[in-house]
Amino acid sequence: MDKRTMLEEGVRAIREAAPDFAPDLVLVLGSGLGSLADRVEPAAVIPYDKIPGFKPSTAPYHAGRLLLGQLAGKNVAVMQGRLHYYEGYSMSEVTDPLRILALWGAKRLILTNAAGGVNLTFARGDLMLITDHIKMFTESPVRGKENHLAGPRFFDMTETYSVAMGHVLRKAARKQGIRLREGVYMFFPGPQYETPAEIRMARTLGADAVGMSTVPEAIVARQMGMQILGVSLISNLAAGMAGQSQITEEEVAEAGAASAERFCALMETAIALLPPAEKAEE
Ligand code: HPA
Repeated sequence: MDKRTMLEEGVRAIREAAPDFAPDLVLVLGSGLGSLADRVEPAAVIPYDKIPGFKPSTAPYHAGRLLLGQLAGKNVAVMQGRLHYYEGYSMSEVTDPLRILALWGAKRLILTNAAGGVNLTFARGDLMLITDHIKMFTESPVRGKENHLAGPRFFDMTETYSVAMGHVLRKAARKQGIRLREGVYMFFPGPQYETPAEIRMARTLGADAVGMSTVPEAIVARQMGMQILGVSLISNLAAGMAGQSQITEEEVAEAGAASAERFCALMETAIALLPPAEKAEE
């Protein structure tokens, strides 16, 4: 199956499973942040193996299903489980779900993740608005003969993360009395965590947080003209920053659980404050 056919089949599978559902936004939930999905009033649940182009997620805490429903008054399509480069998928495969969701008609995207804090003023459990990103490793998810079929080959990345949606998140944080950090997210391919030297490099280059997701998806969503909001939970201080302590996947998940209430309150408030879909592009 060529890429275009696969993407079209993916869209068809979603339309067949939920013929009347028009998404206001797509929500991708990062490691440990899955509990926001419990607050969705479900209309349909589609396992990834029923959607061509959606591969099974093998990452911990990533259920592989697309949940469609209502959250804070908006029609949301929740990716419960995302694909990562470190799972062995190509950058193109990692991002095919986003291509399909954009072709389906989703215009706004909220990307969330657990990330290591690099900024010296950050603390474990902080929430960070992603204002920009750095990608130095791996090929681009839009490299190749077929990856521009759904959007232009060359495109601008100046305002990858929507300024308007960032304002909405700040407003939601103020309303909820939540301290919101802001910063640059740097992509590392993983799955090993970074070395202290790599973290010093990241800080020198201007990163405030590091992680293994989000950036491939943001690039493809940008290519397809989606508006993007990115939010990181600082699940741990990055390598070398907290004395000799080790970073583990359990620590990352625990931080998600410990911050679930705050994270959910922030996201629900922000989603409620977003303008209706038809006004989103004004
Ligand atoms: N590094 C990379 N990815 C991560 C980290 C980290 O320290 N924490 C959570 N995801």
